[in-house]
Amino acid sequence: MTLRRATETDALLLATLNAQLIQDERHRNAMTVPQLEERMRQWLRSEYQAVVCEREDQIVAYALFRKDAESVYLRQFFVKREWRRRGIGREAMRLLLDSGLGRFSRITVEVLAHNDAAHKFWWAIGFQDYAVTLELCRPSDAAEGARL
Ligand SMILES: CC(C)(COP(=O)(O)OP(=O)(O)OC[C@H]1O[C@@H](n2cnc3c(N)ncnc32)[C@H](O)[C@@H]1OP(=O)(O)O)[C@@H](O)C(=O)NCCC(=O)NCCS
Repeated sequence: MTLRRATETDALLLATLNAQLIQDERHRNAMTVPQLEERMRQWLRSEYQAVVCEREDQIVAYALFRKDAESVYLRQFFVKREWRRRGIGREAMRLLLDSGLGRFSRITVEVLAHNDAAHKFWWAIGFQDYAVTLELCRPSDAAEGARL
């Protein structure tokens, strides 16, 4: 597998994968692909970096993250459906760590409470539970939701 640093020209590709990620993890975010593309472009122009993972000339995964002073916030991590349970996620994270993220003392990721597969994945590669977000939803808030 090889990693390639994404640029703004990858915004549509990443937005398309972001839409699949939202669907797969059953996130509340209702943004359309054009909206996700615009948001991705803004992120890549500012504080976020993305990496596209390729194997056998195919895109298999991507990661979006933000580096802070001592830590990395891994905002999005996605392996394409047809490539799952073949060690792609594990290898992509190993390569990300080897390519620079490993020098940060802390890497954080947020997992939705119902996303059992992702939770098991992060545990399998060494992450540990740190915090739990609780919410009280009222009808007027229901449509808004936090955005991934
Ligand atoms: C979570 C995700 C990134 C895992 O990627 P992957 O390439 O399938 O993971 P790997 O094949 O490297 O799995 C490594 C280990 O994680 C664990 N694991 C991965 N997927 C699992 C699942 N669905 N159920 C249980 N354990 C799982 C296993 O221990 C696995 O080792 P094994 O296959 O030898 O048993 C992928 O399923 C995905 O993109 N899901 C949708 C998006 C998502 O939820 N992203 C994370 C948001 S926080």
